[in-house]
This record gives sequence, C-alpha cells and structure tokens, in this order.
Amino acid sequence: MKKEILQQQLEEQFQWFHSHPELSYEEYETTKRIRTLLEEKGIEVLDLPLETGLVGVIHGKHSGPVIALRCDIDALPIEEETSLEWKSKISGKMHACGHDFHITALYGTALLLKEREEELHGTVKLIFQPAEESSLGALKIIESGVLEDVSAIFGIHSSSDFPVGTLGIKAGSVTAGVDRFKITIRGFGTHAGHPDEGRDPIVAMAALIQSLQSIVSRNLNPFSAGLLSITHVSAGNTWNVIPENSFLEGTIRTLTKEERQFMELRLREITEYTAKAYGMEAEVEWIAGPPATKNDEALAEFSKKIAIEENMKVATPIQSLGGEDFAFYQEAIKGMFIQVGTGKTYPNHHPKFQVNPDALSSASQYLSVLSEKVLLELKESEAYL
Ligand code: NI
Repeated sequence: MKKEILQQQLEEQFQWFHSHPELSYEEYETTKRIRTLLEEKGIEVLDLPLETGLVGVIHGKHSGPVIALRCDIDALPIEEETSLEWKSKISGKMHACGHDFHITALYGTALLLKEREEELHGTVKLIFQPAEESSLGALKIIESGVLEDVSAIFGIHSSSDFPVGTLGIKAGSVTAGVDRFKITIRGFGTHAGHPDEGRDPIVAMAALIQSLQSIVSRNLNPFSAGLLSITHVSAGNTWNVIPENSFLEGTIRTLTKEERQFMELRLREITEYTAKAYGMEAEVEWIAGPPATKNDEALAEFSKKIAIEENMKVATPIQSLGGEDFAFYQEAIKGMFIQVGTGKTYPNHHPKFQVNPDALSSASQYLSVLSEKVLLELKESEAYL
C-alpha cells in the first residue's frame, strides 16, 4: 500500500477515535469500531471473554513463532480544550494520552501485515487492550489466556519528548512500579482542652509524614530512583475536638522488584512503630499496581536496528516514574515498550494535549517490518523458542 494512501486512511480513523473517547472498561463503541475495521479487511478477531477490547490475528503462511503487538484504547475524564476540527464530541472525556494514536497505528500495522501474510513466518496477535488508565486492563488480556503461546510482545506509546520520525528505545525500565497506600491511625478522641485524656492521632500523623520521607533519603541506595509521595491527609472536623482517627494516602514508585518490596516493608515498619511511639495503632492498606517496565536487551537492540534500517531516528527515552500496565506482560513474556515521537505538545493528560497524526503511517510501517523480521529472527534462533 502506498504510504500516502495509508496515511490518509489512518488519519480518517484517528479523527474518529479522537472524537469518540471512552473511559476505562467502557470502550464499547471503540471496540465495535476496531472489530468492524479489522473484519472488513478479512482479519480474524479472536473469540475471547473480554467485555471491551479485542485481539485480532494475522496468520502467516509459513510456520513460526507467535508474537503480540499491544496498544491501549481508553481515554480520560478530561474536558478537551484544543481547537482541533476532530475535537472530542463527548463532554468531559478526552483522548489526552494518545491512545487514539496507538489504536490507529496498530490498525495500520494490521493492514500492512495482512498484505504480507504470504511472506510471514509465524503469527502476529494484535492486542487492543482496554483500561490502561486503570493500571489493570492488561490483566484482563492476560487472564483471557491469549498470550500463552506468545514468545515476545511489543507495545507502543506516543511521546511528546520526540519529533515525528524518532523512536525512543532502551533496554531496562522506562516506567516505574506504581503502588498506592492508605494509612489509618487510630487514636482516642477527646476535648481539645484536655489532650491528656486522649491520644491525638494528628500529632502521630505529622510525625509519620516526616518519618516516611526518610525511606527514600536514608534507606534507599542514593543511586536508585524511587519516590514516596503523600498526596491526601485528613483528620478532624472542628477546632476544639481532638479526633479519634487520622488518615493519609499516597504512592510509592520504584524501578526494581527488590526496592519495591523493601519500600513497602519500611513503610509498614515506620508506620507501626511511629504509631506505637504515640500509644496508638495504625492500619496499612497496600494497593499494588503494575511493576516497572523491563525492556528485554536483545529485543531493544533488534528494535533499534530495524528503526535505523527504516530511516527512523532512535533516541533514549526519558526515564519516568509514571506507570504503565504493559509491565504486567513483561513479567511473563519478553517484551519491548517503544516510544513513538509525536511532536512537542502540552504534557500527557493535559486538556490541550495533542499528537501529530503525521507519525501514523511511519509507526505502522515500522511495526509491521519489525514484526515480520522479529518472527524470522525468533524462528532462526532456538534460544527464543
Ligand atoms: Ni497512556
């Protein structure tokens, strides 16, 4: 297919997806549209127990391994403030993280791979994953069992750090492990004029907030990246009553499994003993999110090589302590998360965020060539199979 024709077709679809954003787990119209687009090109859609999102398959003529390409399809609860012609038609919802770009680029890849079916050695599964913004959509795909025969998985994300034509590729982690904690300190309420008759959970909370910050500054290796942010505190509701309880919550971000476990342990210890020091008890609720992404070294090298062959520029992605549920796939399968330059803009999740659709056809072209060559490489190298 000619690049201009592909670009034109993709822009049309991109505009539709952009103007019809749907939130996590509610991507019904988006899923229906993707299904129609794939089926009208004769691409099989697998029958899986998924409420939203879907998986298409390209069956190569020759035998070979199975790989997967993954995009995410959900939008955010943000009121769009761009002046684009194809601006969101749904009030309070917006594709402000480029997932509309991801869907369309993967659709373009599907079209190109379908044309090359006769030449392909193996199978490519095209994952249109729901609910990435919830951090847990990847688990829906994993639970469906569709990845059991997959040897390698590739994911993309638009990046405003890079211009169109540049890819961000690096081995190791590019996003962080993301965990959430909630802490309730149980004191004993009393009259503000008689603090001696109660146990003040606000004083204990203040001490705890200070002490928790020592985990990163005093316990973590200074060469590591990690953070602990307390983002919400509450206690009491008037000026002359010492309340019964205080509450705080926040997030811990880490880049390795060991540091993730270590920071959780320190959080629990410091909370327990600080509360005890003030004669109180505390409860910790730990809500685990995705681990850090972990890009496979060999796949990173291979992805770079193909980028250069395809006349694209390769840059080193800027490490982020944001989260990405693509990391769940990488716990089970070798994977590579690639950033696709979509031009300078407002940051992700901003009401004026935009991607440059010029990057669509080159992203699709790159992913299709990468897939075709990775299949061959995996087929030839027994180490992978
Ligand atoms: Ni995103």
